Amino acid sequence: TPDFALTKTVVLVGMMGSGKTAIGRSLAARLDVPFQDSDTAIEEAAALTIAEIFSRDGEPFFRRRETEVLRRLVTGPVSIVSTGGGAFMTAENRGIIAADGIALWLDATLETLWERVRHKDTRPLLRTPDPKKTLTDLYHDRRPVYAKAGIRLAIDPDASIEQTTETALGVL
Ligand code: S3P
Repeated sequence: TPDFALTKTVVLVGMMGSGKTAIGRSLAARLDVPFQDSDTAIEEAAALTIAEIFSRDGEPFFRRRETEVLRRLVTGPVSIVSTGGGAFMTAENRGIIAADGIALWLDATLETLWERVRHKDTRPLLRTPDPKKTLTDLYHDRRPVYAKAGIRLAIDPDASIEQTTETALGVL
């Protein structure tokens, strides 16, 4: 049973590996609202994986689809929306989120992020000769932008998804 009714869509932002999808799904279940994931919506519309879209059509094409999907998800019924790590980087997307929702930044440490992404090969941006350096650079470049989110949640790497969900409810 939800403790309170959500009045605005909550958009989870943050780096790859910060837990946006897992925490988003859990928060939505806890609040009894729909859960939507922008990467999944893009993949479904294209019938391709994110990696395939990047390699066939390029990142700029992906970013255009991302903005369209974000606008559709955020202007729909109140829900929890998880985004790809780059979605909060443009002023246009931040404006779309701020107009109808509230951004919740999942702020995990670089160590935590690297531990979570290092064994996966699904993220095109990390298909570089030195993925750890790539992640580190993205982390430092993006942090000041994520800091524009309305709410920041410091991620405890030892907390369960359920525990982190309860902490998130406390800051909403
Ligand atoms: C990206 C993060 C990915 C996905 C795409 C680009 C990014 O989502 O949108 O590979 O720019 O950080 P996750 O944050 O869910 O990995």
